[in-house]
Amino acid sequence: MTFVPIDQLEEGMTLDRDVYLYDYKTCKMAMLRSGQILTRSYINKLDELDVLGAYIHTDEKKEFFKASSPIKRELKEEAITSVQRVFEMFDKTAQNININCINQTMEVSKKLVNALKNNREANLSIANLKLYDDYTYNHSFGVSVLSIAIGLSLGLKTNDLYELGFCALLHDIGKMSVPIEIIAKPARLTGEEFQIVKQHPAKGAEFFLKHRLANKRICAGVLTHHEKFDGSGYPNGLSGEQIPLFGRIISIADVYDALTSVRPYRNPSTPAETIEYIMGSSGNAFDVSIVEAFLKKVSPYPIGSCVKLSNGEIAIIAEQNECHPLRPVIRLFNYPEKTLDLYRERDFQNIVIDDVCNIAAGQL
Ligand SMILES: [Fe+2]
Repeated sequence: MTFVPIDQLEEGMTLDRDVYLYDYKTCKMAMLRSGQILTRSYINKLDELDVLGAYIHTDEKKEFFKASSPIKRELKEEAITSVQRVFEMFDKTAQNININCINQTMEVSKKLVNALKNNREANLSIANLKLYDDYTYNHSFGVSVLSIAIGLSLGLKTNDLYELGFCALLHDIGKMSVPIEIIAKPARLTGEEFQIVKQHPAKGAEFFLKHRLANKRICAGVLTHHEKFDGSGYPNGLSGEQIPLFGRIISIADVYDALTSVRPYRNPSTPAETIEYIMGSSGNAFDVSIVEAFLKKVSPYPIGSCVKLSNGEIAIIAEQNECHPLRPVIRLFNYPEKTLDLYRERDFQNIVIDDVCNIAAGQL
């Protein structure tokens, strides 16, 4: 099963979850059931009702493009191609380093920053950001988009955002020094293998310094993206503000993207579970002020999406609560005229959001 955005739904696809259709005005509800084969008219109806997409039955190998709305598919492909080209230069001698590839990656970073800056929605719907295929390059892209979003939330200047996006796109380039058998190992790494993996931040920074491809700030970001705020990270065990800003930002984006990705040895965590993990690690692994900036920008439950609560009720997300993305304002399906603030409402303090459902909220 995979979530396919509305613009990529095709006739003949089979729904793998029920899709609720809901009319705010008449409070009328309809449902497309799991197992329903999509026709053009169903897809058009869902589109009219601004549904975000649907969970589709698919064999595990089939891949679907999943992008957040502010980033166009072409830009994502351009980002991935440019990152791939720079990664391929990793082992090359100075004569074979093509500076155009570096410049192109910086251009991509600028385009990503501009796309996110012009995003009309306040929040990045990170639930829709994932792409389940070639891990490393997509991971680089995901980390870059999230890092830029955090940078925007922190109020960084445009030029700083360009550098941050570039740094995040290439933060893992040192992984080219790690044997592929270790990178792609479908099981837990041995202690020895982990020691090899731990060298990748330094190898990456060394690559940029050796060929003079990036400034000190970018090199420092690459070097420190696995440091932890409490000093328990690697390679140098730096703590607090000893870790440069880019390193502190990229480390959160990196963990978010890694945990929510499909890997050969484990299932992905949901955006909500991962946000919870990051909140729990605030002040330990991560800088509190940067976690707060992250929480202001992410929404695992975009407005208008439908969720199932732990008491079994179905609700629609009506508003976000800044800094509390897991406790938004909702409308209960059975009482749509009333909003309920999951963060403030005392009677609902023990109720959590359990799952995301498909819904189209509009006029039937
Ligand atoms: Fe890394």
